[in-house]
Amino acid sequence: MSDSRRLPVPVPARVSEGAANEVRDMESYRAHYEAARDPAYWLEQAKQRIVWRSAPSVACRGDFSSVGEAPIHWFEDGQLNVTESCLDRHLDARGEQTAIIWEADEIGEGRSLSYRELHAEVARAANALAALGVKRGDTVIIYMGMVPEAAIAMLACARLGAVHSVVFGGFSAHALRDRIVDCRARVVISQDEGRRGGRSIPLKAVCDEALEGLEQVESLLVFRRTGAEVAWREGRDHDWASALAAQPDTHEAVAVGAEDPLFILYTSGSTGRPKGLMHSCGGYLSWVAYTHANTFDLREGDVFGCVADVGWITGHSYIVYGPLCNGTTTVMFESVPTYPDAGRYWDLVARHGITIFYTAPTAIRALAAHGDAPVRAHDLSSLRVLGTVGEPINPDAWWWYFEVVGQGRCTIVDTWWQTETGGHCITPFAAATPNKPGSASFPVPGIQLELRDEKGARLEGATQGHLCITHPWPGMARTVWGDHARYVDTYFSTHPGRYFTGDGCRRDEDGYLFITGRVDDVLNVAGHRLGTAEFEAVLVSDDAVSEAAVVGYPHEVKGQGVCAYLVLQAEAEASPALLDKLQAELRAEIGALAKADRFLVIPGLPKTRSGKVMRRILRKIAEGEFEAIGDVSTLADPGVVDAIKAIASES
Ligand code: WT7
Repeated sequence: MSDSRRLPVPVPARVSEGAANEVRDMESYRAHYEAARDPAYWLEQAKQRIVWRSAPSVACRGDFSSVGEAPIHWFEDGQLNVTESCLDRHLDARGEQTAIIWEADEIGEGRSLSYRELHAEVARAANALAALGVKRGDTVIIYMGMVPEAAIAMLACARLGAVHSVVFGGFSAHALRDRIVDCRARVVISQDEGRRGGRSIPLKAVCDEALEGLEQVESLLVFRRTGAEVAWREGRDHDWASALAAQPDTHEAVAVGAEDPLFILYTSGSTGRPKGLMHSCGGYLSWVAYTHANTFDLREGDVFGCVADVGWITGHSYIVYGPLCNGTTTVMFESVPTYPDAGRYWDLVARHGITIFYTAPTAIRALAAHGDAPVRAHDLSSLRVLGTVGEPINPDAWWWYFEVVGQGRCTIVDTWWQTETGGHCITPFAAATPNKPGSASFPVPGIQLELRDEKGARLEGATQGHLCITHPWPGMARTVWGDHARYVDTYFSTHPGRYFTGDGCRRDEDGYLFITGRVDDVLNVAGHRLGTAEFEAVLVSDDAVSEAAVVGYPHEVKGQGVCAYLVLQAEAEASPALLDKLQAELRAEIGALAKADRFLVIPGLPKTRSGKVMRRILRKIAEGEFEAIGDVSTLADPGVVDAIKAIASES
């Protein structure tokens, strides 16, 4: 190991010098961490960072022991419209500044929108939605690709006090329909086609399929991205451009309460169907504005390049709401990291002068596999901060990002958070925190953590356990849409009185936190979150399949691969055609992201005498750790384990 790899890795001087936010060094980090134990700290932050019609006077109401009776409230007497923080207030000082840089799939075909232009477009879109009958409290589904119109649609909903729910464009018609039904949307916004890596994605056609026979949806607003010929249902379908052109470019924002819902975002859990996490206006916006500024040590003139998709929470918080609230120039990237070649990200950075770049470990690993040349071919001197999100980053990938992409001149922020948390919860602070590769380092002010063992005992010092949060923070999701009992049961029942993240975490002797991955049955494939239960439901619905169990296993690039164990019906045959059919069913029911990397057809699942599937054993076998399986004597049929091992080692 070279000298430059001594731990912890200090923050390069050019990053720590001139720090521009609250957390500027470890001393100020500690001071803010202590101060933020008091909810009054957040009342101050909320008042400073966002624009209120009527400023709040109370910080937080509720705690985790009573969350079953009453959801947590922050700033509840405040009135605001989040778009006034994201748009209107910037018009005087930065009306001509670029708000969104749109990087289209084909290099050179993108465009930029200034804050003034974005403000006008959002007003037109809000007027157009209002003309379709959308009003405060209504839900609107957005099923789009990475075009500025997706952000405009989100902000237009917010402008009206309506609640958006963005569905990632990779989800199938079936998955889309479920979400439309669950949130009772009457209006859907989509586009003719998406573009990704030189290919077209038939978004409108998927919408048509999802809406088939679904009378609940009265209007489908369609943005024409490619101009492709698409089916049109008169009366229901409306053309985005003509709808907006008919409207004035001003719109009086609807003031709502701080606790009014801003959006719903569906995510997978360990059981049942995806649940719609609800985020509120005042608390969420304060949290994303604070973390966006402090984590990255945001500075005037920064160009912020988060290459996630707006269909995920990362896109909501760190492409749209955080950056626009902070008056930043933000990037929307329509393409993929390897199109037209493995230098696409670095070309993007160089052409737009990106100063903060934020991506997922899967992309870093995939690009590192292409070697250093595609990176070296571009001038990356504009970069100051590199972020990662979505899954643990292995030290090899971390060092490649640090040394090759950052050339040792940038700091890395490995940000741990979840759809549920709204924004960063454990992360290095760019200006302050010396890094240990693979560690998300320390909690954000306001995040009080506890590591607990499976029985609920609090663990101290250097240890490993379940990661829990003990006190409410402004950015947390308030409920599961339409099912508060499920929210309480999912997050507050394993460790009563605590928010249980579902993640395992190791703490070293210096207090650095290393996320070890999910301890529940949630998969994280290439940074995409999928529930094993959803896979299994699709697989067992096939006539040939009697039982199915899906587990994750370590995958070199994707972080986790998906291994599906199948027990077939007596008369069914384990043919390649059957496996292809099952793969197609996963695609149709969930989406292209739900792919099984391995199918193992086995004679029976390992079960206890009471019938519980021993997933631990299946995980070990999928990992190839045959020796670590341990005691199988409690199984109803211990012999099945040897049979599964034999099949796994042959495949
Ligand atoms: C799960 C949340 C946060 C936005 C994208 C994913 C994993 C997230 C990290 C990280 C290790 C991470 C966790 C978490 N995760 N960030 N920096 N290090 N693991 O959001 O789909 O809600 O998934 O992603 O397992 O629970 P999500």
